[in-house]
Amino acid sequence: MLATRTLLALAAFAASVSAFTVTAPRTGQNFTTDGSNVVSWTTVASDRKNFTIVLSNGNPADNQQLKALVDATSGTTTVDPPSTGWPAPGAGPFQINLVQDTQNLNAILAQSSQFFFAAPKVSAAPSPSGPVTQPPPPTQQPNNNPSGSSPPAPSDSGLVTPPANGAASMGANAGLVAALVLLGAVLA
Ligand SMILES: *[C@@H]1O[C@H](CO)[C@@H](O)[C@H](O)[C@H]1NC(C)=O
Ligand SMILES: *[C@@H]1O[C@H](CO)[C@@H](O)[C@H](O)[C@H]1NC(C)=O
Repeated sequence: MLATRTLLALAAFAASVSAFTVTAPRTGQNFTTDGSNVVSWTTVASDRKNFTIVLSNGNPADNQQLKALVDATSGTTTVDPPSTGWPAPGAGPFQINLVQDTQNLNAILAQSSQFFFAAPKVSAAPSPSGPVTQPPPPTQQPNNNPSGSSPPAPSDSGLVTPPANGAASMGANAGLVAALVLLGAVLA
């Protein structure tokens, strides 16, 4: 009888156990008080296919539902502030709870690590005490030829390479001849 009850208890535990793991927000990561925040998780095939995301300060009476019927397979989603807005900068600690559904906000499938709310980081102008950006060192030109051998001499085959645009060049010459003829005619 005891064995049966133990087995039943184990079966009930197995049915309720969830492999959801919240991967964001992770330890040391805060939520921003401005705009949406990212919630990510891992799941296994035996998990529920959807859940509801709750913001918790540890007191179930303060649970704030952030997003219902989240597709469990998506692995990540963004949550917008509740109608009352996010808590003030510095508020916390909070946790993100993945719960069964909107009717069961305390049926927790997984919890994030604790985090705080922080004002969004503004990319400040570099302060005088900040790191100084050094210009890159001049590129060393590999031209000092330590072996002393002379660079390859220009081609000295004696062949005169005809201009590639010989036709155009001849046309220009013809034009010059015509101009001279014309000049001669004018001077005559
Ligand atoms: C949500 O998941 C539950 C359990 O996996 C399932 O029974 C239900 O149909 C799902 N609801 C929707 C809308 O997908
Ligand atoms: C998160 O917020 C808390 C409380 O304001 C602060 O002490 C902590 O340094 C913040 N952590 C990060 C990573 O910004």
